[in-house]
Amino acid sequence: MRRVLKDIGSIYIHCDWHASHYIKCEMDKIFGYDNFQNEFIWYYGGGGASKERWGRKHDVILFYTKGKEWTFNIDAVRIPHKWTDGQKRADGSKRDYDKGKIPDDVFIHHSVMPWGGEKIGYPTQKPEELLEQIIKASSNKGDFVADFFMGGGTTCAVAQELNRKFIGCDISRVASSVTLNRLIRDAEQISGRTASINIDKKDKPLSLELTIKEIPDIRVYYMGVYPIEKFEFIGQKEFEDFILTSYESRRFTGEGEITGVMNAATSVLIGSVKPNESIPEARLKKFVEDILKLRYQENIRMKLKVIAWVFPPSLQRYAKVLENYFFKKNLAVEIELIPINSQLFRKRILEHYQDTSKSEFLLKFISQPSIMDIVYKKVSGLKYKFEAVGARSNNIDGYLINCQWDFNFAGGKFGESEFALMREQKDGKYVAILKAEKEFEKLGRYIVACRVQDNLGGETIKTKGVEIK
Ligand SMILES: C[S@@+](CC[C@H](N)C(=O)[O-])C[C@H]1O[C@@H](n2cnc3c(N)ncnc32)[C@H](O)[C@@H]1O
Repeated sequence: MRRVLKDIGSIYIHCDWHASHYIKCEMDKIFGYDNFQNEFIWYYGGGGASKERWGRKHDVILFYTKGKEWTFNIDAVRIPHKWTDGQKRADGSKRDYDKGKIPDDVFIHHSVMPWGGEKIGYPTQKPEELLEQIIKASSNKGDFVADFFMGGGTTCAVAQELNRKFIGCDISRVASSVTLNRLIRDAEQISGRTASINIDKKDKPLSLELTIKEIPDIRVYYMGVYPIEKFEFIGQKEFEDFILTSYESRRFTGEGEITGVMNAATSVLIGSVKPNESIPEARLKKFVEDILKLRYQENIRMKLKVIAWVFPPSLQRYAKVLENYFFKKNLAVEIELIPINSQLFRKRILEHYQDTSKSEFLLKFISQPSIMDIVYKKVSGLKYKFEAVGARSNNIDGYLINCQWDFNFAGGKFGESEFALMREQKDGKYVAILKAEKEFEKLGRYIVACRVQDNLGGETIKTKGVEIK
């Protein structure tokens, strides 16, 4: 973060009392002891308190700058004086009443209340006023504001409101969804225009992009989680290049079935880009024949790496047959079948793309969850019950963690914050609530959309035309 920060930029780190002091030591090391500017206190008061110790009612926000000069717009954050106009200082001079007071490092504001319009239901949501104060002081219009742990997206929403550009990141797909809903809703309010969302089907597998036209562009990238279905839309050659690069191999330029070569001993065969297509036995056989004909060397153990999405049992058996043949003929050849969604393959990619090496858990090939149908039933008047039936995760160890609804769906956007976080805690984890009740304002035909997310980053949307009568 320090590297990408502008020389006159600032960074605010917010953490509760469990870790704040450890983080300060790390920040002193990274940003420099002398660049520590404030220990900013957010005092929220309220709520219950223990009788065994002082009430824990504040959080600490550490404010560091990158260098010795930084943006600090004091006039943008002055607060009105409490004393009355005309009051004099001790030396008799008149006070500058109009300008307001320079704020100190204690910010008093209650937490986000469930009944306030600001509440979007994301745990740990920060009050917009707190972010407003920080963003106004430490940036100018047009500057970039980034929150790398954006949660419910308060920082991005306030930055958008204050005409700053923004970047938000979060490890959680639910956080991204909630933030996107909120940003689109706010952007529509600010611009008075409706968003139209355009999802380009030919997206590259490494970044999904969602562009909202009409209102300022918001792009969403899903990094590290590669939805398997997206591979349908890229070409075979591009797919092979991705894998060859991951294996530090070069394309084999000769005739035949060898896709690439790593070194004198190691050759690669890559299967189809289509996640459901396996390599035909005849192709594997031809690959082996080509190796023996074109690349076999007496005193080197030849390694044949076969990389594909799926290896059905019949192909695995066939590979064993080939290996028996090598054994009988005394040929030093071994075959390794590498499924793309295996730890082995992921390890390879991570070794190659060094900058992600610490985040192996981030790199996943996942299938989208599915929803069989949306069923609904009238409760009374304009009130209807909805359920996403047969909704499930399609990933190993996957389960649905959230469900979102839009009862008047207009092409991609989930506008109803009330239905953005439909989940409950069970055995210490969030699981999706797949039922919802909605009271419509008037009769008519609506497109109802349901979106579910699973714990592994998969997400899917199902829509249904519904007649409210
Ligand atoms: C305290 S919340 C952030 C609240 C947010 N700043 C706001 O104002 O509403 C912390 C967020 O960090 C995310 N998170 C945790 N570990 C992360 C990681 N390694 N990378 C990115 N995000 C992470 C969590 O999913 C969670 O949404």
